Amino acid sequence: MAFPIMMKLSIFTLLILGMFASQTSSRVIIKPLTMFEKHEQWMAKYNRVYKNIEERVMRFKIFRDNVEFIEAFNEAGTRPYILGINAFADQTNEEFRASRNGLKVPSLSQERVSKITSFRYENLSVVPSSMDWRKKGAVTPVKDQGQCGSCWAFSAIGATEGINQLSTGKLISLSEQEIVDCDKTSQDQGCGGGYMEDAFEFITKNKGIASESTYPYQATDGTCNKKEESSHAAKISGYEKVPMNDENALLKAVANQPISVSIDAGGMAFQFYSSGVFTGDCGTDLDHGVTAVGYGKSGDGTKYWLVKNSWGTSWGEEGYIRMERGVSAKEGLCGIAMDSSYPIVG
Ligand SMILES: *[C@@H]1O[C@H](CO)[C@@H](O)[C@H](O)[C@H]1NC(C)=O
Repeated sequence: MAFPIMMKLSIFTLLILGMFASQTSSRVIIKPLTMFEKHEQWMAKYNRVYKNIEERVMRFKIFRDNVEFIEAFNEAGTRPYILGINAFADQTNEEFRASRNGLKVPSLSQERVSKITSFRYENLSVVPSSMDWRKKGAVTPVKDQGQCGSCWAFSAIGATEGINQLSTGKLISLSEQEIVDCDKTSQDQGCGGGYMEDAFEFITKNKGIASESTYPYQATDGTCNKKEESSHAAKISGYEKVPMNDENALLKAVANQPISVSIDAGGMAFQFYSSGVFTGDCGTDLDHGVTAVGYGKSGDGTKYWLVKNSWGTSWGEEGYIRMERGVSAKEGLCGIAMDSSYPIVG
């Protein structure tokens, strides 16, 4: 019963309470931030400093366009995933792609075709209904390639860390920088881009790969450190390719170990993906190497691939993306079934 208590309150107390209430209610009315304020807050959050007013104005305009795109997308609410104003919000999609997507898929030459071996998981008839290699201890924490087109090295290292853990029981973070600096196989060019299969070939020929702590990541092209290159924390004996354009073959592979996959990560929706099951838009212009570390089905029954990216933990679901699985196109969503490979041991 509030009324009798109210009676005991003096006029003065009521006055004070009234002031407090009006203060509280004025605090409830949140004035929407102007775009300028949003940019300022974003700059503070991501420690962004621009060198002069011209750059700031230029970046503000890009930020504004991106935020408008993200907000309109989320307000429409027509997709099972949402976008976020992440660390890449002041970069155009063109700049973003140029600085982070360094996958170079070579044409399938005679020499390449001759290297295609049998697919060891082809006769597998039963796979678990879901898989998450993180829960099996075969996945290291999400890394960040920085402004360097070394995605392909991260993809290959992710798969190598996986098979190494599965065969030795030890999860060791391995060196992308060694791949960036030392691997000159075929078209591999460090931050200038490369291909996962060639990275596996490099690790095989080098008879191993250094640990992350021995040969740490610098996000820039460097000279190959021969001493660190000769330190081997893990080794593989070769690699195999997953049959192309076949999500079922990819499923058999991912059921057995983390797999290097190639995707088209070129769109703005991918740049700003925040959470949910990604259903596009994307094409099949493969430009990014990532690691498939599992698969499953979301609450609403959408089947997905669990994919580890190398853009830090502020992107996506703590650095991961769930991408729709079992689409009608044989290439898979964003071409995920087009070009996959994995290292083998023993
Ligand atoms: C799968 O089975 C076929 C038919 O028995 C066999 O020829 C092939 O070698 C098997 N593949 C693998 C990778 O074991």
